[in-house]
Amino acid sequence: MIAAEALQKSYRTGSDTVCAVRDATVSADRGEMIAIVGPSGSGKSTLLNMIGLVVPPDSGRITIDGTEPIGRNDRQCAAFRNAHFGYITQDFALLNDETVYANIRLPLLYNKTVPRREHKRRIHTAAKALAIEDKLKRRVSVLSGGERQRVAIARAMVCDQPVILADEPTGSLDAENRDRVVSILLDLAHSKGRTVLIVTHDSSVAERCDRVIRMKDGVITP
Ligand SMILES: Nc1ncnc2c1ncn2[C@@H]1O[C@H](COP(=O)(O)OP(=O)(O)OP(=O)(O)O)[C@@H](O)[C@H]1O
Ligand SMILES: [Mg+2]
Repeated sequence: MIAAEALQKSYRTGSDTVCAVRDATVSADRGEMIAIVGPSGSGKSTLLNMIGLVVPPDSGRITIDGTEPIGRNDRQCAAFRNAHFGYITQDFALLNDETVYANIRLPLLYNKTVPRREHKRRIHTAAKALAIEDKLKRRVSVLSGGERQRVAIARAMVCDQPVILADEPTGSLDAENRDRVVSILLDLAHSKGRTVLIVTHDSSVAERCDRVIRMKDGVITP
């Protein structure tokens, strides 16, 4: 499903160059849930963001579901992302002045495969799975950190894309909600054949995954 080969990314800040990721090769199949672990600053988000086509690599190749999406224009790239990835970013990237319902709906508005009449049902199903169905009418700005995190997760599930990319999706959650989220993601992988990549600092999350990728100083270690 995902084949990333020899990905490389450096950032220049002033006179310094930081090599955030070097020579990273990752493959992930359908039905697999893979944890990406490593110390802060080791390149986990950069790797995930390159695979998710948000950060362009300096070099290397990415193939998603048999196609090589690099080199498309912004619009094609956005459409490709929406068709393939449910994304949970490290900062949640929610619209704080909008309701929970509107936030979860957002990717549906860009999705070409889910008919409009199905939006409401999908949004309620995703919200129910994350136990925030009673919050759909609230504005995101009044929610707790853990509730916000669950809105971001519901939004990543609502289009039911083949790949879910999650950057620390359980960092703000209590143990019960964390375990619920991991169970939902595992079920998407194992029962529906989705591919899940999850960055985590939590060993109890990594332990439940099918496989663990470890990063240190921008390099994938054995
Ligand atoms: N936009 C950027 N500009 C400059 N440097 C960056 C940028 N993004 C990341 N870096 C640097 O690249 C390195 C890897 O960052 P990255 O965010 O991938 O780490 P991480 O493993 O996700 O860390 P954390 O666990 O803290 O989220 C770090 O040294 C970071 O400072
Ligand atoms: Mg990160």
